[in-house]
Amino acid sequence: MSNKLTILKIGGSVITDKSGELSARTEIINRIANEIKKANINQLIIVHGGGSFGHPIAKKYGIKEGLKQEYQKVGFAETHHVMTVLNGLFMDALIWHNFPSVSVAPSSCIVTENGRINFFDQTIIGSLLKMGITPVLYGDAILDSTLGFTVISGDQIVSYLARNFGANKIVIGVDVDGLCDSDPKKTKNSKLYKHLTLKELEDKKHSIAASNSLDVTGGMLGKINELTSAIEQGITVLIINANEPNRVYKALTGSKVKGTLLEKE
Ligand code: IPE
Repeated sequence: MSNKLTILKIGGSVITDKSGELSARTEIINRIANEIKKANINQLIIVHGGGSFGHPIAKKYGIKEGLKQEYQKVGFAETHHVMTVLNGLFMDALIWHNFPSVSVAPSSCIVTENGRINFFDQTIIGSLLKMGITPVLYGDAILDSTLGFTVISGDQIVSYLARNFGANKIVIGVDVDGLCDSDPKKTKNSKLYKHLTLKELEDKKHSIAASNSLDVTGGMLGKINELTSAIEQGITVLIINANEPNRVYKALTGSKVKGTLLEKE
């Protein structure tokens, strides 16, 4: 058991079926919960994405762009609500596996300014960590001091918490093997980058395909942009395919695993 903090992000494309609406992949959630329990990490924060729960509703009501018309208010409420439903399914699986974890709603402790975090009460998260209980957060619809409300990605939360709590590593579970030289979902022979420094990452940014338009928070490129500040601080980022059995477990326990390792230099 290590004292160093690990932050695990599980993408919405893994735990939901993005081709449907409100479609959870409960078997995958269950398997990942099992791998998290098995890894037995004491200092861990989990953040999950929105997939087919948060994204379609946020898009339908233009939540990311902020409050402009009355009808959006119920869309704001609904976006947050469906995220709590998805979070509930994730929590069900973690608790079922006897993993001590507690849900922390981003909308109740974060306020952004123009989409960027400018208030984040991390008291509860810190106390949970001290007790060896894993806080579980998610991308959410939250209040914004300039826009009224907006959508915050799980990736922005991950990067912020990693920097603030001085995390050792960030594990990002997505539905592809890692960063590739072309979109692995469209190109058969795309090459996986196993290791990239910040400088190499900057050079290759153009070839890292942004994922489909359903994603209101920016796809793979959005992820990289969010994580850069954490990598600059010396935190390593490991991007893995969480759809493949055992990769989350291996990444959490520090075993050799297929994926992309991003490091400062
Ligand atoms: C999105 O969170 C949350 C909402 C749309 C409310 P993320 O941006 O972290 O979700 P994924 O991982 O891309 O689905």
